[in-house]
Amino acid sequence: MSVMQGRATGARIGWRGEKLTLPLICAPMFFISNVDLMIACRTAGIVAGLPRHNYRDFEGFKAAVRQINEAVARYSDANPSALIGPLAINISVALDEVEMRENLAFCCEQGVGIFISATGNPTDLIHRVHDQGGKILCDATALRFAEKAIGAGADGINAIGSGGGGHSGTLSHLALVSKIRAQFNGVITMAGGLTDGASIRAAQALGADMAYMGTRFIATREAGAADAYKQMIVEGTSKDLIYTAGLGGAPANWLRASLAQHGLDPDNLPEPPGGKFTHKSAYEHLPAGARPWATIWSAGQGIELINDVPTVHELVGRLKREYEELDPEASYARVNALLNHATA
Ligand SMILES: Cc1cc2nc3c(=O)[nH]c(=O)nc-3n(C[C@H](O)[C@H](O)[C@H](O)COP(=O)(O)O)c2cc1C
Repeated sequence: MSVMQGRATGARIGWRGEKLTLPLICAPMFFISNVDLMIACRTAGIVAGLPRHNYRDFEGFKAAVRQINEAVARYSDANPSALIGPLAINISVALDEVEMRENLAFCCEQGVGIFISATGNPTDLIHRVHDQGGKILCDATALRFAEKAIGAGADGINAIGSGGGGHSGTLSHLALVSKIRAQFNGVITMAGGLTDGASIRAAQALGADMAYMGTRFIATREAGAADAYKQMIVEGTSKDLIYTAGLGGAPANWLRASLAQHGLDPDNLPEPPGGKFTHKSAYEHLPAGARPWATIWSAGQGIELINDVPTVHELVGRLKREYEELDPEASYARVNALLNHATA
């Protein structure tokens, strides 16, 4: 069965409307992306990214996707003119053959046609997704990852520039997005530190098609983060982050205060054992109870601009207003005032 056949049997659970409320994806986040956040994003008319690995087993994942689709279908029936965004599943290339086949077939049956690949070689996953009529976006924290994914046939690239939450890149978006656009005609999302309507415009100005926001959505009512985590994001600035590979192999941005909570000195972290960051043994050097993502918290430099914990619908409404109200004429007015004064 193809994704399109899946949609035909469940038209109300897929994407509806001529367009999204905004060209925006709520990026998939380990622990954070829960059923409530996904329902809120989809009913607000944006793409909702859900990591498959947020569920220990297949049954838990299936129950969550069904719950999301049923709630969205109810909302859609009650609000026939509302724009509904699709669900996008972030799936690991490390699943074994049987798991991969079962997971993709289930997603297809549920009308999920968009997938996200973060780490590892996505070539096989790209073929499998295409075979069932789906599309796939691949993360790129550096140009070489973007080039590999494009070569392997990715439909889109999540260009993760410097200052992002989670496993961030280090290259400026100005270079990363423009350079990917120069060699790729597919969809590009811009990620890393985006939090407001202006950043969505900036993504498009650089040649990206969508904004990919993670940290901004942690500080929402629906997100599956502890209140103390949300508060750290509201109160913190970029000085409160440390970018390090010292927590398990891959460099990421972490909230210093969440390390301190476990008695860890962010500037003097114990040596990691050198294992892969996805492997449990990579955390053996940390104190008991200190677990990256679960109790040691990640955020991007967007925390500079995050001052509240709204509902997702409030946030998306605000982003839309900011996006629509952005006025380039205001810049000309400021420049003219400067030049007129300087040359008077
Ligand atoms: C707490 C947290 C958990 C994350 N977990 C995942 C994940 O499970 N899968 C994934 O592909 N990306 C994950 N990311 C990365 C995001 O999908 C996205 O690339 C990033 O949040 C964008 O940067 P921003 O947070 O500055 O908006 C995570 C990011 C954060 C902050």
